[in-house]
Amino acid sequence: MEELRQKYLEAIAGAADEAALEAVRVQALGKKGEISLKMRELGRMSPEERKVAGPALNALKNEINSAIAARKAALEDAALEERLRGEWLDVTLPGRPRPRGSVHPVSQVTEEITAIFADLGFKVAEGPQIETDWYNFDALNIPPHHPARQEFDTFYMHRAPGDDRPPHVLRTHTSPVQIRAMEKEGAPIRVIAPGRVYRSDYDQTHTPMFHQVEGLAIDRDISMANLKWVLEEFFAAFFGIDGIKTRFRASHFPFTEPSAEVDIQCSWVNGQLRIGEGDGWMEVLGSGMVHPKVLEAAGVDPSQWQGFAFGMGIDRLAMLKYGIPDLRAFFDSDLRWLRHYGFAALDVPTLHGGVSD
Ligand code: DAH
Repeated sequence: MEELRQKYLEAIAGAADEAALEAVRVQALGKKGEISLKMRELGRMSPEERKVAGPALNALKNEINSAIAARKAALEDAALEERLRGEWLDVTLPGRPRPRGSVHPVSQVTEEITAIFADLGFKVAEGPQIETDWYNFDALNIPPHHPARQEFDTFYMHRAPGDDRPPHVLRTHTSPVQIRAMEKEGAPIRVIAPGRVYRSDYDQTHTPMFHQVEGLAIDRDISMANLKWVLEEFFAAFFGIDGIKTRFRASHFPFTEPSAEVDIQCSWVNGQLRIGEGDGWMEVLGSGMVHPKVLEAAGVDPSQWQGFAFGMGIDRLAMLKYGIPDLRAFFDSDLRWLRHYGFAALDVPTLHGGVSD
């Protein structure tokens, strides 16, 4: 009896999984199990023998049963432990980090402007920031010694000693892209040209590098009325104000005739600027009908084609729309400023998604 006990308790303790444990149970207590067979032998014993062997076998059977149950529970516990270890998850870890960067207000506003003008049928044209004297001035009807050259505070590039061609300039406006676009595509044409421009000037509202967007629409019968409609559509979409009023003031630019400076309606309430309200005006751009000499310089026949052009400051528009007070901070790369005024990286402005929210 003691031998049987030893044998099965050892086998139970050594069973590596539930299947092995079940095999041990069958071997001991199954119908043809060793202990079951022994119990059947009780009938052939004398009553005295049976009195001793009976309870002993019963006790052994119970002991083995509970050893199996205990081992089974231990195996189940171990399996659960194993699973928990495999599926462990540290719920105290911080969530996924947010993207660190943000979209600069100038990039955001450029995207907004591009989306609005794309909807009006304008595509984007580009030109170099280091520009020739001819594209930046002459082709735009600003010949050498024209007083307008002085107004621009131009940065000039160096020429090699002995090279007396006119120096290249850092473009002082996006207007030269008008010429490049017309040279490339001819007429009709409808483009905007956003980009960097440079002037030697620095105070709260001027930085030596800033951004403009040029607009150009040339066709057979485009007029100032088209210009006014396009600009009003633009400002309404950009500021999210239906029926925003504009005011056209006669002005002068060498590259347009007639020329107009355009103001938008605004007012100051408790030191705060409100666009599209009240009876004040804020100058936002220069514009006009493209001068015949400019069309000619770009290889477009002014007896066949005419159209409007405009140029406005992107940084100014960003300041007005998003209430940013100091232009200089735009280009300081101060992370606190960028986090405060920046935009979410995946929040691309579209007309259907909204450019004003
Ligand atoms: N280029 C001008 C400037 O930088 C702005 C401008 C005025 C552009 C009138 C135009 C225009 O296209 O028609 O001051």
